[in-house]
Amino acid sequence: TNTSLAHKPKILVARAIFPEALVKLEAFYEVHSNQSDQLMSAEALQKALSDVQGALVTGSERIDASALALAKDLKVVANISVGYNNFDIPAMNAAGVMATNTPDVLTDTTADFGFALLMATARRITESEHWVRAGKWDQWSIVNNPLGMDLHNSTVGIIGMGRIGQGIAKRALGFGMKVIYHNRSQLSAEDEKACGASYVAKESLLQNADHVVLVLPYTAQNHHTIGAAEIALMKPTATLVNIARGGIVDDSALAQALQAGKIFAAGLDVFEGEPQVHPELLKCSNIVLAPHIASATEKTRRAMVDLAIENLQAALDGKEPPSLINT
Ligand code: DGY
Repeated sequence: TNTSLAHKPKILVARAIFPEALVKLEAFYEVHSNQSDQLMSAEALQKALSDVQGALVTGSERIDASALALAKDLKVVANISVGYNNFDIPAMNAAGVMATNTPDVLTDTTADFGFALLMATARRITESEHWVRAGKWDQWSIVNNPLGMDLHNSTVGIIGMGRIGQGIAKRALGFGMKVIYHNRSQLSAEDEKACGASYVAKESLLQNADHVVLVLPYTAQNHHTIGAAEIALMKPTATLVNIARGGIVDDSALAQALQAGKIFAAGLDVFEGEPQVHPELLKCSNIVLAPHIASATEKTRRAMVDLAIENLQAALDGKEPPSLINT
């Protein structure tokens, strides 16, 4: 072949990926890969980016001016994630580095999980399992069993109505739920019709929803979209599900509200400062906790890695990557 080592561009694979994907990359590139899967220190990342033309990273690697300070040859950083709040886009623009993400391939898998978390939360599934395992189940009871909240005939309020939010809405329709949503901008009439959703103001959504699902990107403006004041607007019987990003919910305020019974329950896949979880949240029984796994199916994780590789390859071949963020 004509892929002599000397001419292979160098790339960084910042975290463990599927072995087949690594083999595929090694055919084209000189790969510096961190298959230990331990998050690199900021210093190690800066150094690793100093002599590569491309990098595959996850949402956990922060790509900012400091990470890019020595990156003289870098053309592209491909996120293996749809959310890209780990990217400082102005800093990447200033460094002339293309940023890409992995939209679409994870939409349905993530919407499925959002629905799973909603159901587990409303029907107290994990709490019930703990109850069974702890030997507390001694009889069928009308009143002394974990009683949950219904999904059917209830109103779900979706905050963030992008691809995944619309996926949740379509699933909710199948459950006979009424769908209201809030978003930066209202959907087209056609898209609203496709997911049977009505646009409302955020306050109205919080007051009227039986279940609130958060699916919005994390930005400075979206920091603590749900804090004590917003929780105070919610029904005491309401559930809150966050499959978006930590930082969108004020976890300390949420823990207080759950402990005081201000809302019924919460389901969280993402946390402020994850993988740390606020100690007060860990004390709540009316909560379902998941380790940021909404996109975690074998098939979808492979599709995310493949799309990230496609983006990286396009950029290094001088073409426009299919999911370029910064044009
Ligand atoms: C995503 O794709 O944004 C997931 O949250 C993983 O980072």
